[in-house]
Amino acid sequence: MAAINSVTDLSNEGDVAVITLNSPPVNALSSGVRDGLYEGFKAAIADDSVKSIVLICDGRTFIAGADISEFGGAAKGASLFDVQNIMENSPKAVVAAIHGTALGGGLEVALTAHYRVAVPSAKVGLPEVNLGLLPGAGGTQRLPRIVGAEKALEMMTSGSHVPGKAAAAMGLVDELVEEGNLRAGAIAFAKKVVAENWPLKKVRDREVKADPQVFADFRKANARKFRGFKAPESNIQCIEAAVNLPFEEGLAVERKLFVELMTGPQSAAQRYVFFAERAANKIPDVGDDVEILPIKTVGVIGAGTMGGGISMNFLNAGIPVKIVEMKQEALDRGLGVIRKNYENTAKKGRLTQDDVEKRMAALTGSLELSDLADCDLIIEAVFENMDIKKDIFGKLDKIAKPGAILATNTSYLNVDEIAAATSRPESVIGLHFFSPANVMRLLEIVRGDKTSKPVIATSMKLAKTIGKVGVLVGVCPGFVGNRMLSSRQGQAQAVVAEGAMPWDVDRVLYDFGFPMGPFAMSDLAGLDIGWDKEKSSGSTIREVLCEMDRRGQKTGAGYYDYDENRNAKPSPVTEKIIKDFAAKAGTNPRDVGDEEILERTIFTMINEGAKILEEGKAIRASDIDTVWVNGYGWPVYRGGPMHYGDSVGLAKVVERLKHYQDKHGDFFKPSALLEKLASEGKTFASLK
Ligand code: 3HC
Repeated sequence: MAAINSVTDLSNEGDVAVITLNSPPVNALSSGVRDGLYEGFKAAIADDSVKSIVLICDGRTFIAGADISEFGGAAKGASLFDVQNIMENSPKAVVAAIHGTALGGGLEVALTAHYRVAVPSAKVGLPEVNLGLLPGAGGTQRLPRIVGAEKALEMMTSGSHVPGKAAAAMGLVDELVEEGNLRAGAIAFAKKVVAENWPLKKVRDREVKADPQVFADFRKANARKFRGFKAPESNIQCIEAAVNLPFEEGLAVERKLFVELMTGPQSAAQRYVFFAERAANKIPDVGDDVEILPIKTVGVIGAGTMGGGISMNFLNAGIPVKIVEMKQEALDRGLGVIRKNYENTAKKGRLTQDDVEKRMAALTGSLELSDLADCDLIIEAVFENMDIKKDIFGKLDKIAKPGAILATNTSYLNVDEIAAATSRPESVIGLHFFSPANVMRLLEIVRGDKTSKPVIATSMKLAKTIGKVGVLVGVCPGFVGNRMLSSRQGQAQAVVAEGAMPWDVDRVLYDFGFPMGPFAMSDLAGLDIGWDKEKSSGSTIREVLCEMDRRGQKTGAGYYDYDENRNAKPSPVTEKIIKDFAAKAGTNPRDVGDEEILERTIFTMINEGAKILEEGKAIRASDIDTVWVNGYGWPVYRGGPMHYGDSVGLAKVVERLKHYQDKHGDFFKPSALLEKLASEGKTFASLK
């Protein structure tokens, strides 16, 4: 075996040259990898004893894409196109051997091989859309030429990873090779190509046809999903080009649109989010050497919506769950809802009935806390009340086995106070799931003063196991997410008190990119959450609405009026209530204006985020963004509140906050950190 460079080897197996890449962690196409590939192919082509060439990767995966960390830097070494050209024009058959994931540029390289083989567990895809991009190395022109326009539309706008078997059925993979036998299987395939004189197939020479209606229908069907995003439309236009134009002209369209996306703010934000989610895993004082505790059984206290959703996460990951309720009826109802959820998934074809039964068999219900004695992790998901939680943790302390992790799903309360109800605060942590807990990706992991490092490390690892993005936060009211939400809600209500209507606020935030505004959200959740009929005294707009039985969507009216299909309409009733409040308070309603609504709701969040950083309740600004993108519907193409602040410019944020501070008081006073960064011309991202 000869080393081509530090990440590429070339060896001959009889008359088959094998180029092996080894660039951990994911063989991304860095300049070194591109150089190695280019030189490797050059050498193999020049070697007269070689009749065919196999490209294979060491490590966990085939090439997972372009090296995203190199984007925006100066181009050096061989380009991706140089590599693809030498492969596609090779006079000797080139076979790409795929395991792990062939994604983005990785699949685009494989598509310039004459043939592709893969193990069944391999996955292939063009996920660039999730980085606000499109495949920029010919993928938009080659993929539709193999799988057809409709499948290409689906794959490229969702970024889905297609499993080996399905990829073979689509013609993306020419042959599946036995698991664990990729190298030998690929060499045998290459020999067969030569022995049987198979043609050197170039994907670019194929044709793809599609009715223009296919594109019109696809755009229409996905308009809601793509709202606000630039990349899906650019991907679609490239596939149209593949259908309507010769290959080289299609490539030119791809290049132009790729550069537009790459240099635009959306892709910058989406790439930032990619790295932010991965950075969140890194806890400065909890190294890789910290012990991970085994979690073989999980106990959940509370079989309501939250407890049920939390349980499903573990059942899905194959971890048995014991769920405890106080009354048989509530337990039966909770277990019934979980079963129904699984059966609905099965009806949609996303689970087999066998899977449903397996998951249900791993779930046991109980009315006794003492049944949780053998659980490695116990998560309390009961009513949000400190006394109840302390009582439960006091009892758990006596029941749980030594070393078990005791977690609370509180969304707001002081985890240290809860921990103090036990004799083992080092075992107590907050695991704040978001509703619906089996769907939402965010898990806020709340570190108490005394939480031990193994408990933190285990919780972070567990988040990954159950497919969540875990973010470590500190104890403060509402932690990171709900604390910033409170600032936003406060301003949403304040601007309404000054003359804006709830639908004005909702429209501004919806247009910003949130799935819905705060008032529509309240209507959906129910205005009566936390409302007490006995104590209600008509002192807020919400109280008056509840007193009128306008308790949100479920009663057909809340801030909005709803028709029988739950379509919302601005409500004259609500408008009158708001105006009556203003009259009583003696305020003169004014035209607040969209810009002011946006600045007051969003800039106060940025300020609150800065305070959170100052107080050390989040490790880094990007963790705050990860919370907001994954738990609160912050539009990913705006990167999160802190990234948004950086992109607007912190000096401007400070200037506007001071403007509102002059008018409305010290709530708007910029935090010391924000002031400092702004005055130094720095960003949150610079605080590494
Ligand atoms: N470039 C640079 N670094 C990458 C990378 C890439 N394409 N893909 C992954 N990494 C890094 C991650 O940042 C992480 O680094 P860290 O350990 O320092 O945090 C490390 O590799 C491992 O990644 P994950 O933690 O995500 O590992 P998983 O095993 O969970 O997932 C994966 C592996 C499925 C490959 C996932 O990393 C992934 O989805 N990567 C991105 C794939 C992608 O989007 N490819 C397209 C790139 S754009 C492109 O190709 C443009 C082209 O068309 C010109």
